[in-house]
Amino acid sequence: MPTQRFSSFRPGAIWPDTDGVHINAHGGGLLWDQGTYYWFGEHKIAGPEGNRAMVGVSCYSSQDLHNWDNRGIVLPVVEGDEDHDLVRGCVIERPKVVHNARTGKYVLWFHLELRGQGYSAARTGVAVADNPLGPYEYQGSFRPDDHMSRDMTILVDDDQIAYLLCASEDNQTLHISQLTDDYQRPAGRFERVFVGRYMEAPAICKHEGRYWFIGSGCTGWKPNKARSAVATSIWGPWEEQGNPCVGPDADLTFLAQSTYLLPVHGRPGCFLFLADRWHPENPIDGRYVWLPLEFIDGHLVVRWRDEWDLSFFDQQ
Ligand code: GAL
Repeated sequence: MPTQRFSSFRPGAIWPDTDGVHINAHGGGLLWDQGTYYWFGEHKIAGPEGNRAMVGVSCYSSQDLHNWDNRGIVLPVVEGDEDHDLVRGCVIERPKVVHNARTGKYVLWFHLELRGQGYSAARTGVAVADNPLGPYEYQGSFRPDDHMSRDMTILVDDDQIAYLLCASEDNQTLHISQLTDDYQRPAGRFERVFVGRYMEAPAICKHEGRYWFIGSGCTGWKPNKARSAVATSIWGPWEEQGNPCVGPDADLTFLAQSTYLLPVHGRPGCFLFLADRWHPENPIDGRYVWLPLEFIDGHLVVRWRDEWDLSFFDQQ
């Protein structure tokens, strides 16, 4: 049986990889590198324990954003070494890989919860590789700037300065931290933004000189209403602009939660909104909601579409 080839996105549908298996890369982040997209995500296992008993960070690659080859686990949990941060039973969430042009390294950041501690560790882990596919060498974990860090993402700005955005202070306030030149540690400067707003699931992009943000409220695996914001400096002030979603279940982010804003390579100004439909009772069945991001009258809009493809951007 030849495997199915795709030429469109079908948000929320089962999305088989080129082996015919539903993609297992939740809470993901994407990297474009030398003609290939790499999709890094949480590799979950089946059943109600599948969020906690995770295997590691998975990676898929694609040339067209539709058809994805499974490239395996690029950062596995560790077997046997009880003292290791990544011992099986730890939770690795929202992995993001960035390429550092100066060192040539690929740097993987993720939210780390230590085994048996629920969500109380609130740490960030870092691993480094010479190639997008790894192997990623674990560098350790920490609380950035000595503050809690849960849901997170990374942005590399036009001037190659990178920033970590993370839900801190028990999720109440988002922190934005500048990273060191090698992207492997916080550099020491950070700001508190969206103070007391319980902003989770941060996703960010830069478009026409401004920073655009989509996040969620704080309701665990249950969907809630997305929030958007814009700023002319990454440090703020950030102007909240409300729910960018339009269409069925728009008040529940189409039953999903933001994870990434993806610049489409070779199409300046074109971005995809990436979100997860979590299925905590069987996490490997979680679905992906990928939709075009529109910039209309100084606001973000994410409109539901049952099926669409990149030719959408030809009309923009
Ligand atoms: C969500 C968060 C997910 C995961 C989950 C655990 O709010 O966005 O990444 O941490 O909580 O309940």
